[in-house]
Amino acid sequence: MNRRDFITLFGVGGIASSLPLALAACSSEKSTTTTTTTSKDWQNIGTVAELDKNGQLLNEKSPVGTVLVVGTSKIKNLVAVNPTCTHKGCKVDWKATENKFLCPCHKSAFAADGKVLNGPATEPLATYAVKIEGSGVLVKPV
Ligand code: FES
Repeated sequence: MNRRDFITLFGVGGIASSLPLALAACSSEKSTTTTTTTSKDWQNIGTVAELDKNGQLLNEKSPVGTVLVVGTSKIKNLVAVNPTCTHKGCKVDWKATENKFLCPCHKSAFAADGKVLNGPATEPLATYAVKIEGSGVLVKPV
């Protein structure tokens, strides 16, 4: 066997032996991408029991981002916001007695619908649609 025959034989053999592996890699990649959901859908961020326990429910790792839901399952108007202050990014707190969100860093205040009541923040909090379904609390970007 000369050098040309050797390269031809093992070059073709190498391609032939790696082809099934390449095909398997391509086909397995397709099967893993079919069951994901988009973050624009309703997302379950916690349970009604958690919400009712403290009158608020914080989920910092939901598919739509950080969400703070305020209220209980007994009231109709639940509120859901991203509690990240639009001024410098501190987490705002819900003050139920004052019916507003307050930022502990520089004292910005936001209404229950996220609108700015007092600066220095100038942009409203991001809000979510929120509903209770079964024992779950669900939110969706608006
Ligand atoms: S970070 Fe909230 S007021 Fe400054």
